[in-house]
Amino acid sequence: MPALHPDIDRILIAEDQIQKRVAEIAAEIDRDYQEVDQVVLIGILKGAFIFTADLSRKMTVPHSVDFMAISSYGDLASSDGAVRLILDLRKPITNQHVIVVEDIVDTGHTMNYLYQTLMGRSPASLKTCTLFKKKRDSLDVPLDYIGFELPDVWVVGYGLDYADKHRTLPYVAALKKEVYS
Ligand code: PRP
Repeated sequence: MPALHPDIDRILIAEDQIQKRVAEIAAEIDRDYQEVDQVVLIGILKGAFIFTADLSRKMTVPHSVDFMAISSYGDLASSDGAVRLILDLRKPITNQHVIVVEDIVDTGHTMNYLYQTLMGRSPASLKTCTLFKKKRDSLDVPLDYIGFELPDVWVVGYGLDYADKHRTLPYVAALKKEVYS
């Protein structure tokens, strides 16, 4: 086994566990949408591009994939939940069955913003899906599909980054505290 990158403390979720859970979520979505002609998966850039690709390839229900990009306003503003839309969908979602796909929900501010914004566009239905969720007491937004709960440490891999690094690791790992503190 190759040595871990020196920034990494330990692996939290192995590649095969992730792939197994992604397949389970895809099967769950297939079951829930078996009566539906077409689903729209909306992947949230950048973090969710890997999960969205794997989920899409494992789903059998007919679906299209579109993307949005969201950015927080910066450390100070983001603490009150301010986020900004920096790339919008190609097509309207009016009367479409939509699933928003995130890599991680932490404070829930981003998913809450997405949920409110997309509900305002009159989809036929809107569900939320995240592969990872930080342990929190309460969130303002419903999460319909959740892959794994994570401890409150900085995690990287499978789309998650630290300063745009480590996104393409096939597993999820905790970063060493001295790297980010
Ligand atoms: C991450 C993640 C979510 C958001 C979750 O994105 O992909 O979009 O943070 O955090 P929240 O629940 O506290 O709002 P990030 O801002 O790191 O951008 P990136 O996906 O482009 O790396």
